[in-house]
Amino acid sequence: MSNSMENTDGSESDHGGAPTIVDLDPTDHDTFLEDVLNGLSLDQKAIPPKYLYDDEGSRLFDEICETTDYYPTRTEAAIFREHIAEMAERIGPGVAVIEPGAGSGEKAVMLIDALDRPEAVVPVDISLDYVRRSAEALAERFPTIPIYPVCADFTKPMAMPAEIDPTAPRLVFFPGSTVGNFAPAQRRALLRLFADVAGAGGSVLLGVDMKKSSARLEAAYDDSAGVTSAFNHNLLARMNRELGANFEDKAFRYTARWDDKEGCVWMGLQSLRDQSVVIGDRIFEFKDGERMHTESSYKFTLGEFETEALACGLKTLKAWTDAKGDFAVFHLGAA
Ligand code: AVJ
Repeated sequence: MSNSMENTDGSESDHGGAPTIVDLDPTDHDTFLEDVLNGLSLDQKAIPPKYLYDDEGSRLFDEICETTDYYPTRTEAAIFREHIAEMAERIGPGVAVIEPGAGSGEKAVMLIDALDRPEAVVPVDISLDYVRRSAEALAERFPTIPIYPVCADFTKPMAMPAEIDPTAPRLVFFPGSTVGNFAPAQRRALLRLFADVAGAGGSVLLGVDMKKSSARLEAAYDDSAGVTSAFNHNLLARMNRELGANFEDKAFRYTARWDDKEGCVWMGLQSLRDQSVVIGDRIFEFKDGERMHTESSYKFTLGEFETEALACGLKTLKAWTDAKGDFAVFHLGAA
């Protein structure tokens, strides 16, 4: 059996005090620079969305979730509140919970609290600060459950902390509809990776945002309080600070558009004039009106997602939605 999350002796977590962090893949400066230079060289300029989420970006994202226009977070939370007992029952006892992305404090707490004697919790995040903080919060809230934080890019196969009983069933917990931020090919690869991590005895619990009117979608991704705009503009500030770029903040405008053909909200920063941006010894030309892609958020019908998951080795065991059908939480098992 090929399992991407085999136990290794590479970690030195010693549960009992403050959690030890297994730091596998902090995104370094050279990778950021290379990714930006490559992205700005494309015909359709694009910066990989993960770079939106530095400390300030993660803070702004939390603020987006509080806006009235951005419905997914609170809708998903309501689904969890209503069905958490049934979810825990279906997941079963003694699971090792793996949480890629680890940004969902409240939902993770709700789930862990409802589960029957979980074996361990493994928060995984690319931001060292973020994974450290969520692990500390979990350790404080659940002092008797081993917490093994891992700093890693969760889209790549990673080792499981060696302390976890390899026979414990695994639950991959992926709320927040983050699955929608991956382009189709990457998304399928991620679902296959989750199927592999969960294995035959495990399962996946994942949030998916549903298709709805373009007006509601565009409002959710360009909130009237301007927080999503600030979240995107933070990327320009980050490139200036960390890469010595000279993006002029006022020369770009944030835009979000529903693309019906692709089935996603397309987000980006639009150049407000012809201009050039310098990064090191490279110069990038922007045309007036040209858009630089920052993130996409794909939306699904229940049937679309079920079909895609199945093609990736994950069978739908149950899907819960809110009354309006805005959001869905899927429980998936090995197909
Ligand atoms: C939490 C990453 C899923 O796509 O809804 C929200 C990201 N970007 N507003 C989403 C996001 C701008 C969000 N994800």
